[in-house]
Amino acid sequence: MIIVTGATGKLGHGIVNNLLERIPAEKIGVSVRDTSKANDLKVCGVRVMQGDYKDANSLAHAFEGASQVLIVSSSTTEGDALIQHRTAIESAKLAGASRILYTSHIGAKPNSGFADHAATEAILKESGVAFTSLRNGFYASSAIWYLKEALETGELIAPQDGPVSWAAHADLAEIAAVALVNEGCLDGITPPLAPIESLNFENLAAIASEITGRSIKRITLSDEDFVKHMVAKGYPEQYAKLFLGLFIASRNGELESVDSTFEHLLGRKPISVRDLLVNELNKGVL
Ligand SMILES: NC(=O)c1ccc[n+]([C@@H]2O[C@H](COP(=O)([O-])OP(=O)(O)OC[C@H]3O[C@@H](n4cnc5c(N)ncnc54)[C@H](OP(=O)(O)O)[C@@H]3O)[C@@H](O)[C@H]2O)c1
Repeated sequence: MIIVTGATGKLGHGIVNNLLERIPAEKIGVSVRDTSKANDLKVCGVRVMQGDYKDANSLAHAFEGASQVLIVSSSTTEGDALIQHRTAIESAKLAGASRILYTSHIGAKPNSGFADHAATEAILKESGVAFTSLRNGFYASSAIWYLKEALETGELIAPQDGPVSWAAHADLAEIAAVALVNEGCLDGITPPLAPIESLNFENLAAIASEITGRSIKRITLSDEDFVKHMVAKGYPEQYAKLFLGLFIASRNGELESVDSTFEHLLGRKPISVRDLLVNELNKGVL
């Protein structure tokens, strides 16, 4: 049985939906914090079990019978994500899984905003279990999030940035499902899973202006002033500093992909920021 964690979250849920298109529901299980949020999957015939990365006993139960476990990286901002990932990896190994997949990050690197991902990859290597660390591109939904406000204010405010190969959740979920159903596909640490096209914030502002006909000005702040700006908007300082990870890494060219694996595995053109923006506008969200 393939077990997917975080299946009540955006990426995990997308992965399960993609699996349902490829393999019978009885071969899929999910480990979620709150089972009542996974009723839609239960109705489809997916095994739904309660599992929290903070509780190894719950994972032992939720991972029972696992041939593969896909661990969605924790969304915690409390700083203990790495401990949680270690618990999940150890639990998958104890459950007898022969392969562990993990949703890592294109920017995974020690001493960076994505250091937890690099450290989790080290734990995977030490585990002795076959693993796939999916180096997912930066979420295109983040670009949309910044553009949403820019479309209201006419200003796209951010620190100095660099090129980013923005990746859509739907595409990342599809690739994770492809990797799960094809054992041996994407072994070890994967190449960056992101489109080859990269866009910086200047490009994002230009695309949004072009699509909407509204004028959007790119405003560049120092890192320090950007944190102050986010704090003034109501974000706790610790959280505001996390936003800097994107800008520091993109300035260093660490969020850009020149690898065609993403397109190759999808077998089609990836979803672009432009596509997502048009979609949001059509839904009347922006
Ligand atoms: N590539 C990128 O650009 C990028 C950007 C932001 C985040 N990420 C990472 O990608 C992950 C998935 O993204 P997403 O959009 O699907 O986020 P999401 O919708 O917030 O989903 C995160 C999932 O993690 C689960 N989770 C959190 N703490 C847990 C715990 N202690 N035990 C078990 N499950 C736990 C959540 O459970 P509940 O449903 O119960 O809340 C949720 O299902 C994030 O968690 C984050 O680590 C990547």
